[in-house]
Amino acid sequence: MLLRTALTIGWMAALVVPPVVAQQAKARATANVDLDARFKEAQTSAPLADNLYKVGRKVAAVCAHCHGEGGTSIKPSIPNLAGQNPAYLLEQMRQFADGRRRNEFMEGMIRAMNSDEKIGMVLFYAAQPVAHQTTASPALTAKGQAYFEKTCVRCHGAAGRGNEQIARIAGQQPDYLRMTLHRYREDTGARAGSIMTPNTRQMSDADIEAVVAYVSSMP
Ligand code: HEC
Ligand code: HEC
Repeated sequence: MLLRTALTIGWMAALVVPPVVAQQAKARATANVDLDARFKEAQTSAPLADNLYKVGRKVAAVCAHCHGEGGTSIKPSIPNLAGQNPAYLLEQMRQFADGRRRNEFMEGMIRAMNSDEKIGMVLFYAAQPVAHQTTASPALTAKGQAYFEKTCVRCHGAAGRGNEQIARIAGQQPDYLRMTLHRYREDTGARAGSIMTPNTRQMSDADIEAVVAYVSSMP
């Protein structure tokens, strides 16, 4: 009787346990896989990129509450993710997760995502167009353009679209740009050790207003 029970359990376990164990092992492997290595893999494999894009589109439904459908955010204080550079997005997620970039809500959210969700989200948002708006006065915008061309072009590029490690700022939300530039200038610790701190130290409040007007209006 005992033996029969043991055999039955053994038989059931043989049927039930292996797939579950295999699934858990796979989930663990995916969660722990190095972000950069997995990202490179996705860049060289179209089918993998396709799958991760679909994962990312699902994740984005949660993010849409703040970052908007397709990553053009619903509030001027929340950054657009649409059109953002993939490596920059990935680096920000790493910084939220390890506490170098501080925002309580985003830190928790990013820590709950596995590598494939992060990379999928990056692939999804990078491919979305920025829905773009202009509201500032032409005079302020022109002043901002002059400042931008003197100081910011060197890294963010003439079109404000940055590169691998440098953020796209063109078309970014105005309140978010203003808050971020003040944080960098005042070195509040929200984004510790950024190269942006020495590059904003000379800015007056009026310079910031002008640059925000210009940058948020860039296509
Ligand atoms: C409740 C609102 C809210 C939700 C939901 C939300 N975010 Fe955010 N997110 C923010 C805010 C606010 C910031 C700006 C944080 C700061 O700099 O203080 C931000 C910043 C970011 C940034 C940095 C952008 C940049 O330009 O540097 C990334 C990346 C990001 N969020 C990804 C996500 C992802 C992925 C999701 C969904 C899984 C998500 N967010 C959901 C509010 C939200
Ligand atoms: C020496 C290179 C360099 C210069 C010059 C520079 N930036 Fe940056 N900027 C960066 C890098 C790198 C980042 C990536 C974020 C980080 O490390 O904090 C960044 C990030 C930003 C962000 C945050 C983007 C986001 O999505 O959160 C804004 C806004 C910004 N820069 C605006 C400017 C403006 C405006 C100027 C000119 C006054 C400027 N930058 C000059 C390198 C530079």
